Amino acid sequence: MSKVKTNKSVFEPWKLGNLTLKNRIIKAATFEGLAQGGVPDERLVQFHEKFAAGGAGVVTVAYGAVNDDARTFDHQMCMQDDRIMDVLKKVTSTIHKHGAVASLQLAHCGMQTRYSKLSSKPFSYSASWGLNPYGLLSGIPFMRPMPEKVIEQTCDDYAISAKRAVEAGFDMLELHMGHGYLFSQFMSPAYNTRRDKFGGSLENRMRFPRLALRRVREAVGPDVPIVVKLNLQDGFEGGSTLDDCIEASKIIEQDGDASLLVLTGGFSAKSPMYLFRGPSAIKPLIAIQKNFIAKLVYTLAAKKFPDMPFKEMFFLEDAKKVRAAVNMPIALVGGIKSMANFKTVMNEDFDGIVLGRTLIHEPDLPKIYESGEKSTSGCISCNRCVAHIDSDDGVICPINVEMASEAA
Ligand SMILES: Cc1cc2nc3c(=O)[nH]c(=O)nc-3n(C[C@H](O)[C@H](O)[C@H](O)COP(=O)(O)O)c2cc1C
Repeated sequence: MSKVKTNKSVFEPWKLGNLTLKNRIIKAATFEGLAQGGVPDERLVQFHEKFAAGGAGVVTVAYGAVNDDARTFDHQMCMQDDRIMDVLKKVTSTIHKHGAVASLQLAHCGMQTRYSKLSSKPFSYSASWGLNPYGLLSGIPFMRPMPEKVIEQTCDDYAISAKRAVEAGFDMLELHMGHGYLFSQFMSPAYNTRRDKFGGSLENRMRFPRLALRRVREAVGPDVPIVVKLNLQDGFEGGSTLDDCIEASKIIEQDGDASLLVLTGGFSAKSPMYLFRGPSAIKPLIAIQKNFIAKLVYTLAAKKFPDMPFKEMFFLEDAKKVRAAVNMPIALVGGIKSMANFKTVMNEDFDGIVLGRTLIHEPDLPKIYESGEKSTSGCISCNRCVAHIDSDDGVICPINVEMASEAA
């Protein structure tokens, strides 16, 4: 299918479903590390206010676990926990105060978990049986296939979580189907060897994520835009391929439940640097660990984190193939930094621009670019911010902290 290219401008209002966004810039879900004991505090409000005040059209709050077992880390919020609602309401009203839209990512980790409560059971759920090196030293060395009854319950948990998110004031929702989390495990031929209706063909491997997406749509009604974050490729031998992504995108488009695709790639447990590119995040991750076991986990995992050359817009070429295959709105993530990058992405007929590290470094970048004050980002893609998902103080740009202390 050849699409007619349109002349979109990143700073024009963008209508997504019934929402009008002030521009096409979306702050990516970047886990904040600001929910010690599972309960976010005032710092989460301040964290997201920076991006809303800095001019992003959409600000995404990361990783709302749809049930207790869906957490990767202890310091992650569970959407069914009543203790989180007051802070989330404050986060959304603060984002709204600056004219931005508030989005929440809903996720289930499957086997990508280090949640200490799960270590009372030696397994975590995934698509199929297997050893789970990711959970090994956290006492969760095996993964087992999620039974159909639990799949059903998990779909309900997505719907309940989505309703609670809307109750907390979120205007948009994002379902994480990439980066090796539970839906990504079901979609990946490397992790899904099931012989029931949830395994085999791509349609079968997508049955669970599609069912959850449908339940979320039914729960929130037609007016809440739902984003699906989807892998272009898993980034390792035997994982999901670009052809899988093209087919999956067509199926999602046909189902009609999602409003926007965000195209990404990589599998945290197997190919973590595929999703970031650039220098390995492992050394700063090891340095930040306070406990010996965690240091050991990351030291043993070091070979999974080899450097991977960084290139601006590193998913663009793959994403163009998906763009050519479907008509639904698509946003691109991954190494989008300069105003020139923004223009390229718009000229290639994508609908939105998703920014992670560049905004962690400079939350005001949308306003700065729009004013014409400058047109390149100071982010050096060093990946040191990634390590801070494990720090008690939450995610920061260490370069900014060093610059501030030198200036003092
Ligand atoms: C500190 C940090 C935490 C992240 N946490 C999440 C997350 O919770 N969910 C998610 O989908 N992606 C997460 N990501 C990945 C980003 O959303 C994005 O896909 C990736 O950083 C590439 O975009 P960028 O080049 O603009 O940073 C995280 C990235 C960073 C830097």
